[in-house]
Amino acid sequence: MSTMETSKDDALYEYPFELTDVPRLSFDDPQANRLIANQKPVVLTGTNLVNSALHWDLNYLKDNIGNSLFTVYQSKNRYFRYYEPRKIPQHKDFKPPTLQAEMNFSEFVDKLKECQKTGIHKLYLQQLLFQNIGERIIKDFISFNWDWINQQKNLNRWGPLSSNLLLIAMAGNITSVHYDEQQNFLAQVRGRKRCLLFSPEQFECLYPYPIHHPHDRQSQVNLENLNLKKFPKSADLEGMQAILEPGDVLYIPVYWWHQIESLPQNGVTISINFWYKVRNFLEESITYPLTTSQKIAIMRNIEKMITDALGNVDEVGPFMQSMVLGRYT
Ligand code: FUM
Ligand code: FE
Repeated sequence: MSTMETSKDDALYEYPFELTDVPRLSFDDPQANRLIANQKPVVLTGTNLVNSALHWDLNYLKDNIGNSLFTVYQSKNRYFRYYEPRKIPQHKDFKPPTLQAEMNFSEFVDKLKECQKTGIHKLYLQQLLFQNIGERIIKDFISFNWDWINQQKNLNRWGPLSSNLLLIAMAGNITSVHYDEQQNFLAQVRGRKRCLLFSPEQFECLYPYPIHHPHDRQSQVNLENLNLKKFPKSADLEGMQAILEPGDVLYIPVYWWHQIESLPQNGVTISINFWYKVRNFLEESITYPLTTSQKIAIMRNIEKMITDALGNVDEVGPFMQSMVLGRYT
């Protein structure tokens, strides 16, 4: 084996906090449905959700995915921390940590081979699947186990499927720890992924960026290099961990923090996200005490209202401090 190659048995990075295993259950185990109903993560086996895509590899996709453009992020290191371009103008000093480019699939494959050879950059293709996709890929897509996933959506009273994201990562890529505002089934197609999850109760340990910041919903904490001086509560982190194999489906509940690493191996990892909207909880009958997720939704709304009302992102911090300091602290 050359030094460039790494095997399945490579040691995983050891985090300085506790990580318990996400339960791994068959899709027809009643406990799996209970976990989903209670918005707790679970790895589901046997769903057949993306069986029709398990043969996908770069060659098959290149030949069949069509000639449309794909969004590819490029990073100088292994981290891919998402940012919202529309929030950049309010933050003049913000430097995007990754470059975003549009290219067709064969350009992506060429660039990927180049990067695998030189090791200078990492690439991560992240493309919503909706139009201009070749016929055979559409056929595979239609053959996903929509019966099972629609049943889950209905059982759990989720809103509509909002999107499917195709993710193709190089070995070692890390999607930095963040939360989403939707329910997510992450289906693994190729390669293995290490997923770290933290419950919404860990909000204070993960120091999310302000809502107006391009890195909204992302943690400021670097899990591989904790800075306890700057973020002391990150010492109290306690998480869960799952290793996804092809065919596995990870349920990532809304507002659960997650960091996803493509495990060292040759080639790429391929995954597909299924995101479902959540109903606005204010439209549901409310029971008390509120859940942490509901409180985070309220906090987001209030933070957004204050930011909009002040019209200047620099005033938000001092404003909120004068509201609470010495009065609620
Ligand atoms: O890299 C990833 O697979 C990220 C997935 C997610 O954030 O949902
Ligand atoms: Fe996510």
